[in-house]
Amino acid sequence: MQYGYFDDEKREYVITNPRTPTKWINYIGTLSFGGFVDHTGGMLVCKGDPALNRITKYIPQLPASNFKGSTLYIRVRDTAGVRVFSPFFVPTLDAYDRFECRVGLGYTKWLTEIAGVRTEVTVFVPDGAQQVVQDVSVTNLREETVEIDVIPVVEFTHFDALKQFNNADWVPQTMECHAMRDPDGRVTLVQYAFMKREIAHNFFASNRPVASYETDRGRFLGDNEYGTWARPGALQNGGDLSSQDAVRGDNIAALLHALGAIAPGETMQTITQLGQAMSYESALPSIQKYRDAAVVQAALAQLADKWAARLDGMQVDTPSAAMNNMLNVHNPRQVYITMNWSRYLSLYQLGLGARGLGFRDTSQDVMGAVGLAADECRDLIVKLLHTQKIDGSAMHQFNPLTMMATQGEAEDEERLPFYGDDHLWIILTTVAWIKETGDFSILDEVVPFYDKDENENPVETGTVLAHLQRALAFTWQTTGAHGLPLLGFADWNDTVNLLPGAESLFNAHLFGAALREMIALATHLGDEAAAARYEAWHTEMGQRVNEQAWDGDWYVRYFEADGRPVGSHTNEAGQIYANGQSWAVLAGYAPPERAIRALDAVYERLNTANGIKLSTPGYDGYDPKKGGVSTYRPGAKENGGIFLHSNPWVMIAETMLGRGGRAFSYYSQVNPAAKNDKIDEFQTEPYVYPQNILGDEHPQFGLARNSWLTGTASWMYQAGTKWILGVRPTLTGLLI
Ligand code: NOJ
Repeated sequence: MQYGYFDDEKREYVITNPRTPTKWINYIGTLSFGGFVDHTGGMLVCKGDPALNRITKYIPQLPASNFKGSTLYIRVRDTAGVRVFSPFFVPTLDAYDRFECRVGLGYTKWLTEIAGVRTEVTVFVPDGAQQVVQDVSVTNLREETVEIDVIPVVEFTHFDALKQFNNADWVPQTMECHAMRDPDGRVTLVQYAFMKREIAHNFFASNRPVASYETDRGRFLGDNEYGTWARPGALQNGGDLSSQDAVRGDNIAALLHALGAIAPGETMQTITQLGQAMSYESALPSIQKYRDAAVVQAALAQLADKWAARLDGMQVDTPSAAMNNMLNVHNPRQVYITMNWSRYLSLYQLGLGARGLGFRDTSQDVMGAVGLAADECRDLIVKLLHTQKIDGSAMHQFNPLTMMATQGEAEDEERLPFYGDDHLWIILTTVAWIKETGDFSILDEVVPFYDKDENENPVETGTVLAHLQRALAFTWQTTGAHGLPLLGFADWNDTVNLLPGAESLFNAHLFGAALREMIALATHLGDEAAAARYEAWHTEMGQRVNEQAWDGDWYVRYFEADGRPVGSHTNEAGQIYANGQSWAVLAGYAPPERAIRALDAVYERLNTANGIKLSTPGYDGYDPKKGGVSTYRPGAKENGGIFLHSNPWVMIAETMLGRGGRAFSYYSQVNPAAKNDKIDEFQTEPYVYPQNILGDEHPQFGLARNSWLTGTASWMYQAGTKWILGVRPTLTGLLI
């Protein structure tokens, strides 16, 4: 079954059937102001921090038919009576004559026709603005005049997204929503939590006079809230809303625009804005600005230009339409969105609590984005390096507003207090940035290490180059019984948490790949001593790997603290891991014959029609000594699932062996654009990569989850462009 199609010319995906298997979303704005909008008009908006400054209440766990954060009602009055519908499908679930939802670059557009009325809506955040603009046009398709009311509604959340769910007395006692009236009849509803009265006001405004408004959810739904979003009591009788301010409760903002009689063929436009400023007065200039339809039109065009500038630097033309689709539009868009939002906020990563940016994840996200937004990437590289410690390892995650970092789960007392891979990624990232920009000056920038003295001042600073060298030194010095790098709390595979003393082949391989970059860099900079030192480390670590970790047909993945291998034919579960093979090639450790055997073992044992499994067989039962990997059933996520992030690494390794055909077939089998025709099995958006697809040990083989914010985006983009197509920047120029 298909739910839509790609419109390549407009760089959009067009949903024509709203009953998609999961909600399909799009991002608007940026982390500094924005959020996501789903294809049925639900909207999650926040400013600066999804955990601590959230604006709309969007609860993804509620059924698909439920109102979520925002909607729009159209009320039609004619001789037959009053009819209320929504152009978004949710929450009224109407049967349309026509439904189109266009997922574009930074905007979503709807066109629906029902009851002789066409409604066109565009939602976006103008570049750099602090408000969501919603441009609504209604056209009378009938042969007689019709009276139309346009009633947009948003529901607010407490700014602390977690607290909203923790106390249902305190939260509503803090919430208020008041009307600010213009002399010309326009109304802006201003909402805030009492403790933010002087500093943060959410506003909901429009460009037209308002007949009435509502601020309280209970009054809007009616009947002591036994009224529903599908049939809100306040809209049923054709009359007005209460126009009362809320001084507590579940705050909403609903503006009733009575457009009056609309002639056949006539179109009327209403523009709404949802934003946040210090006060109504301080927001007024920008509210006034976006009341002007021409300004809104220009802002949308400016957004299109911005995206064109990002994407046009790299466009491909291959015989595969699905590959062109992804590499030209949807994959780089996802790369940019993932870099911007990290793992903060999606339908699956709910942005509650305080996770911030992850050192490992953001480093990899930036690697894919260097050609799309070099300046933003540079800022992120420098921010990441601020959270590297003096010993060369890195803090696991940090809040980019406060720059406060934590060790993530590595604060667990029974495991080592670091992740063995984090600090090594930034080497690949920084060198990727230099190769893309040709700007070596970043290496001289002085950045403090994270460790602070008693006055909270950094204990040591160093150049970016010194940070990278420190990262290598940490891994070289932090090895276990086999001379291989210690695992720490975990490596890239967050969910294998072996007891202290365990060693990680992934860390050894990532170290090897990072060394190769640093050897090339040192050579380019004329530092022969450093190049020779890193060559020696590379040779030595490669020997340790090859002497101890070859299992006969593939490489093992870990050694436990007691010396037993994990990822070996001797294991009952987890006999072979994809990363153990792909990264042995990426590291430059695997001699040609072993490289071929290891990658053939991946093909034979791990490949499926829906992608390459991370490992096999899955662990069947919870084992606290293994950790997170055993918390879900075999075939799911890291436990023998198709954890997509690791697929492009196999593709890259295959191209390094000259086996581009196999790499391309791996690429195509996971390309979501190619799944458009069997999306009922895949379920998530056909225009973005998901993080995981259930593997063939699972009864729901092929079902995808956790779309959008995943390192898959960055690596699929790199695998497709730099390796399968083979166009990549080097320290001295572009290699084709
Ligand atoms: C998702 C995490 O965000 C990422 O850091 C990790 O590498 C993968 N899961 C694999 O465990």
